[in-house]
Amino acid sequence: MNTPQTPAAGSPATSLQDIIAHAKEYGFVFPSSEIYDGLQAVYDYGQNGVELKNNLKTLWWKAMTQLHDNVVGIDASIFMHPLTWKASGHVDSFNDPMIDNRDSKKRYRADQLLELKAEAYANAGDEEKSTALLQEMGRLLGDNDLEGVRNLIIAEGIKDPVSGTDNWTEVRQFNLMFSTQVGSLAEDASLIYLRPETAQGIFVNFLNVQKTGRMKIPFGIAQIGKAFRNEIVARQFTFRMREFEQMEMQFFVRPGTEMQWYESWRDTRMKFHQAVGLPADKLKFHIHEKLAHYANAAVDIEYKFPFGFREMEGIHSRTDFDLKAHQELSRKKQQYFDNEVDPATGKPYGNYIPYVVETSVGADRLFLAVFCNAFTKETVGEGDQQKERTYLKLHPALAPIKAAVFPLVRKDGLPEKAEEIVKSLRSEFRVIYEERDAIGKRYTRQDLIGTPFCIAVDYQTLEDNTVTVRYRDTTEQIRIPISELKAMIGQEVSMERVLEKM
Ligand code: GAP
Repeated sequence: MNTPQTPAAGSPATSLQDIIAHAKEYGFVFPSSEIYDGLQAVYDYGQNGVELKNNLKTLWWKAMTQLHDNVVGIDASIFMHPLTWKASGHVDSFNDPMIDNRDSKKRYRADQLLELKAEAYANAGDEEKSTALLQEMGRLLGDNDLEGVRNLIIAEGIKDPVSGTDNWTEVRQFNLMFSTQVGSLAEDASLIYLRPETAQGIFVNFLNVQKTGRMKIPFGIAQIGKAFRNEIVARQFTFRMREFEQMEMQFFVRPGTEMQWYESWRDTRMKFHQAVGLPADKLKFHIHEKLAHYANAAVDIEYKFPFGFREMEGIHSRTDFDLKAHQELSRKKQQYFDNEVDPATGKPYGNYIPYVVETSVGADRLFLAVFCNAFTKETVGEGDQQKERTYLKLHPALAPIKAAVFPLVRKDGLPEKAEEIVKSLRSEFRVIYEERDAIGKRYTRQDLIGTPFCIAVDYQTLEDNTVTVRYRDTTEQIRIPISELKAMIGQEVSMERVLEKM
């Protein structure tokens, strides 16, 4: 059931709480099945959230497949042959180390308990101790020395925050994949997994796409889709969910050229995040010192969430690990014939299993970053007139609603004129008509969901076909002819302008 969010050590808890409350109150994100008290780490996007998320997904899709003529998209199934997950390593090693406290009966991720302790050392100024602890943890986990991990937790004096005791169980590995069965009869049933990443749907279709699309290396395959992980500790709102969405791209390259592509995609992806409006000082690269067995380089793009800098996207140079493993297990060749001539030998490069550079960003984490960044509280006015204003400073191309049209009063033909304007704009943009309450309140309602433009229809409109347009961020108002609205709004909300910055 949904329990209160547990903030990481030293985080400004109130601001994440503000974000969660705002997201719920204004139709962005709801706890799943709330009438039954919710389901932990599962969330639903509301009427405004789905628009914002769809806009982010569209931008990512266009940035991948439209801006690069050697990247195409697919949409693979969530269910895959179970051997897929054996080949990828998920059956054997997609685990988190967990530990239970015998007194509180609460379950924790052993590595996160140690990370919090290291963070506490760092916050207290003892960087050396913090680094040493993380290194020791990395060593023990690398050796799969689970008893050593438990001993380290006890030696560090880590107590369960609920019971206050260190009455810990042994540390056990917990596989994060959800499983279910296919087959209508129990005896026919066979174990199947909900995919924990979308990437494998791309790997198993590598040759289908390459052959049918006559793709030449280097080329990429992009996909957006749901992924599922049975996260032991679900924290920090939509940051860590059990059902989430990934936007992944595998870029297939000639072995030996992977580092150049890795660097190029790393920079391209950083530009994407800045183009959607995330400020450069809230983004940073975090290079992985310790690499997964399949990678020869890895970096995360981290965003400064209210609970600190955390991973939003991973960029991995995955070598030929996945395709090679699929080739071995499926006994189907996963090779590409490269007829380009190698200048060193004067002969074609010939057959090889391509290397892969992967970019993988969580749609929900990107959504959360954009939402946190847009959430703005300002004090406006002076003296007695001072008041607090809250609004969502979303890039207009991302806003769920692009413009709201208001008649000043509900009579004298103003509503009809306003509805006429809505009709003239709605085939192009998401526009709404709003006549309830005083105009100030209507502005506030639109500010709270991030609508960049409010269009007011007044008596002058009936005389000269002009309207006032109020800008969300500055609250400045200008008067323009109705005939100019489409071009003016179109220019501001266009995704094209965002894509041009990448
Ligand atoms: N194919 C590589 C892969 O899946 P990952 O680092 O495990 O790598 C990639 O996941 C991205 O997916 C992360 O950077 C994050 O944005 C998102 N993600 C992973 N687990 C998540 C979860 N439990 N909830 C929300 N997003 C998650």
